[in-house]
Amino acid sequence: MELFESLKGKISGKNLKIVFPEGTDIRILGAANRLNADKLLTPVLIGNVKEVTDGLVERGINPEGFEIYDPDNCQRFPKMVEIFVELRKGKVTEEEAKTMLKDPNYFGTMLVQMEIADGMVSGAIHSTADTVRPALQIIKTKPGVRSVSGAFVMVRGRDDNEKYIFADCAINIKPDSETLADIAVASAETAKLFDIEPKVAMLSFSTKGSGKSDDVVRVKEATELVQEAHPEIEIDGELQFDAAFVAAVARQKAPSSTVAGKATVFVFPEIQSGNIGYKIAQRLGNFEALGPILQGLNKPVADLSRGCNEEDVYKLAIITASQAL
Ligand SMILES: CC(C)(COP(=O)(O)OP(=O)(O)OC[C@H]1O[C@@H](n2cnc3c(N)ncnc32)[C@H](O)[C@@H]1OP(=O)(O)O)[C@@H](O)C(=O)NCCC(=O)NCCS
Repeated sequence: MELFESLKGKISGKNLKIVFPEGTDIRILGAANRLNADKLLTPVLIGNVKEVTDGLVERGINPEGFEIYDPDNCQRFPKMVEIFVELRKGKVTEEEAKTMLKDPNYFGTMLVQMEIADGMVSGAIHSTADTVRPALQIIKTKPGVRSVSGAFVMVRGRDDNEKYIFADCAINIKPDSETLADIAVASAETAKLFDIEPKVAMLSFSTKGSGKSDDVVRVKEATELVQEAHPEIEIDGELQFDAAFVAAVARQKAPSSTVAGKATVFVFPEIQSGNIGYKIAQRLGNFEALGPILQGLNKPVADLSRGCNEEDVYKLAIITASQAL
């Protein structure tokens, strides 16, 4: 895929380290081996050192070139506990911190926070909530961003000539207008990472007042918030998907819009439509769905699907490393 060749070019030679908290999963080990062999990044695996090393050797992989951290036997653990307690300011005692940091996702997130690694990829055997919660609590949002959200890059065609961003399909269950505005701004930024010119459509069941409901008002308000705060972003809403995507429908339903009919970034009104929408494009439309890519965090963390394969891990690690640049 052209898209990945471009991302690989961006990350190679940058000495990036990506943490994989699920250091004994065979999909993770296979992908980590390829990332290492392709000299794209240094994989940092979490787990019992002997178990992780045995897992690599059993698969004929030379453990050299991997870093392995064991939360049960780590010199940096006391410092990690101290930093975590300070970060959680009164929400976690030292004893609680010691227990929480034995969890590979908390431990891995702390390696990123402490700049021992540049990003984290997890979720092959953990739920989205368990993967993402440590990042929300520890790494937190970028300045000016209130909400972390999850975007998918939807790709189809021989030369990736059809590339779109769909968000938020993963994190915010029912975003208010401020959160929706945050999702739109972050999605426009994510689009640029993949060389997509962002034209943001704020999706709804209504186009320009054709339908009436509080949900339509929420989408319209979010659009206005982005227009006020970020006049540089090309955004319009509320738009139905056909008005956002099909030029002929746009001419009928939103003739004065510069986004309608040409949208490249699709912001869904809440997680249900977002999650259903990307899966319809994937399963009925034969788009490849890459993600979810978490947007708005101070440092990159990616959440794999538990149904992922080695190739998915490989690709998401490349995307995560690109976000770290
Ligand atoms: C992401 C999610 C796990 C967070 O919920 P949670 O674990 O209950 O989190 P809490 O509400 O306890 O918040 C934990 C911390 O994260 C912060 N937080 C929660 N959601 C956030 C968001 N979207 N952006 C930024 N910070 C957020 C909270 O402010 C809180 O911070 P604090 O502890 O420093 O005060 C939850 O929104 C969720 O389950 N979303 C759906 C995930 C899913 O199933 N996706 C579908 C599969 S792809």
